[in-house]
Amino acid sequence: MIVGVPSETADDETRVALVPTVAAELVDKGVEVCVESGAGTGSMWSDAAYREVGCTVVDEREAVFDRADAICQVRGLAANADHPMDPYREGQVVVGTLGPFDLDEATWEELGDRRLSAFALEFMPRISRAQSMDVLSSMASIGGYKATLVAAERLPKLFPLEMTAAGTVQPAEVLVIGAGVAGLKAISTAERLGASVRGYDIRLEVKQEVESLGADFVELDLETEGSGDDEGYAVEMGEEFYEQQRKQLGRVVPESDVVITTAAIPGAPAPELVSEEMIANMDDGSVIVDLAAADGGNCDPTVADETITYEGVTVFGPTNLPATVPGTASQLFANNLYNFLDHLLADGELVIDTEDEIIDSTLLTHDGTIRRPHEESDESADEEEGTDGG
Ligand code: NAI
Repeated sequence: MIVGVPSETADDETRVALVPTVAAELVDKGVEVCVESGAGTGSMWSDAAYREVGCTVVDEREAVFDRADAICQVRGLAANADHPMDPYREGQVVVGTLGPFDLDEATWEELGDRRLSAFALEFMPRISRAQSMDVLSSMASIGGYKATLVAAERLPKLFPLEMTAAGTVQPAEVLVIGAGVAGLKAISTAERLGASVRGYDIRLEVKQEVESLGADFVELDLETEGSGDDEGYAVEMGEEFYEQQRKQLGRVVPESDVVITTAAIPGAPAPELVSEEMIANMDDGSVIVDLAAADGGNCDPTVADETITYEGVTVFGPTNLPATVPGTASQLFANNLYNFLDHLLADGELVIDTEDEIIDSTLLTHDGTIRRPHEESDESADEEEGTDGG
């Protein structure tokens, strides 16, 4: 079996799907690993490092796609600019974050026509045996860490309490909205830097986790029954709920020097939680890092991939912070990917058993069938209503 690792093509992408230390483990299992020359450069790995562990390095990108049975990408399909399907061969396996919510109809059809087995790692179920394969958590953790550093670097104040001969400096007030993987890492990083930290989440079950990191949990007077699903993700609430939430957050946000927002709902736009009015009430020089920028942002003025100043407050809208730490991000991504491939490998070949929960959840298309697990419920609902689903 040949696993192919092409260079990433998205503009800001510096990561690579497999690093040499992890590729070596596949080579040990009898898998041939074919890497495009330069694929690891952005994450500190040379072609020589791949060759040293027994990988084949080829100059032509096309050669990777021609040779490989399975293509591994950090960002596949949707990130391949205007031609998402161009490089893939009939019957190929593709594994990576594939942006399933951003694929257009033509791409879905082409995936089926070319009989690709496309695994979207975004759909990894949040079950304990899949934890070691969960790229979203690995990347969110890096995003949360880096968001805090970006804020600390930009804020005109130090984070920690300083008692010096020249006087006492109060710690910076940091508020983290959304205490999932990214939020909890942002909280622990801000704590380590010595800030005074508060965390907030719609799911009250995370209160203990927030407090165990040394931060205070912000409790709002809201009816949050039914705000989470079985996997621990938040669900979309009605506009009336968000209005109430904004009203109460309006008292907390202006007290903060730094606000890091990470509130997300899988497959839905990010809830708008921080209004222009709240930001206008923050001190000049305060900093917001909106990690939900790629999904529309949690803050009204956020612009994806831009840094703006709104009423004296700096608002960052980064969409790919893990790519700013590509060495660690690639290492963790590769570990997750290896664990996933190893789950499928039997006698050196990938075996696709759709009865397996991990495979069933992540497999978008297989054998000419478009499975799209995320749309199944919509389609069956449409069928029940006697429509063709558009
Ligand atoms: P997650 O699903 O683990 O956490 C999201 C949290 O937001 C959950 O705890 C959820 O309960 C909370 N939430 C949802 N609606 C809320 C509301 N109305 N009020 C308060 N809390 C609410 O997701 P994770 O892994 O922590 O990622 C968070 C976001 O950060 C995602 O959008 C992810 O794509 C993004 N991210 C962005 C990066 C970047 O560079 N911009 C890097 C890594 C992650």
